[in-house]
Amino acid sequence: MSAKIHIQINYLITQLSNKVIIYICKLFPFFCPKALNIKDLYQLKNEGYVKLPRFIKESDIAICQKSILNILDDINFDIKINGELKKGNIKINSLQKFSKYLNKMRQQYFYIFMSFFFYGYLKMPNIIFTYTSDGTIKNRYVTGKCKKQIAGDPHFDNYKNYLKIMILLGDVDVNNGPTSFVQRSAANKKMQDSYIKNCENKKGKKVVDKILLRKICISNNVVQLTGKKGDAYLINTKNVHWAENLIYGNREILWLYF
Ligand SMILES: [Fe+2]
Repeated sequence: MSAKIHIQINYLITQLSNKVIIYICKLFPFFCPKALNIKDLYQLKNEGYVKLPRFIKESDIAICQKSILNILDDINFDIKINGELKKGNIKINSLQKFSKYLNKMRQQYFYIFMSFFFYGYLKMPNIIFTYTSDGTIKNRYVTGKCKKQIAGDPHFDNYKNYLKIMILLGDVDVNNGPTSFVQRSAANKKMQDSYIKNCENKKGKKVVDKILLRKICISNNVVQLTGKKGDAYLINTKNVHWAENLIYGNREILWLYF
């Protein structure tokens, strides 16, 4: 099957599952999770992202942070196998394997609903924690100042639609390395060659060079995904995005990769 057809089928499946779930929510409002409404689903579908303010309670954030510290303290946990540790930067993968609480969290109705909305079937997310620091705030995660964030270059994650949920465990503003996101860029004609190349060669380059980015930004807006502690973003990372450089402060995020 040609790459073009492959991409088109993926697009149609997403469109269909989006429409079916929105239709069901309109017919049976109780089907829609409390954390969002139909307008939010339309925004995710059309713009590629949506912000959900006050998505998670302060007390739940504290439990998440405690679970993460417990994982780091666990003698069976090896950061070299299950994550990355750099100066001012830590990434831990597959948290659900090490924490019963986080494993249970991903079984919540909201995440199951989002999986059906986005993919049309059940896909359990992988839970990831990232922490970036300027080195001035004492913490048990990392030391030193982060020079460049992981995923700091403009890129797309996949030629297919790909859902990620980003939960802010601390405030994120323009200074502490917010994610920048090019709205609707997955639908931009100028991006299509990059998706085809990536589909033909999965190891192919996903980085978007400066010239292409400039061309896309003529017709598509760039937004910075800032917010308060407890806010969340639902993102289709087929769209172009990157992590901005950290000027000062720290950035603490819980990710769900579907
Ligand atoms: Fe990414």
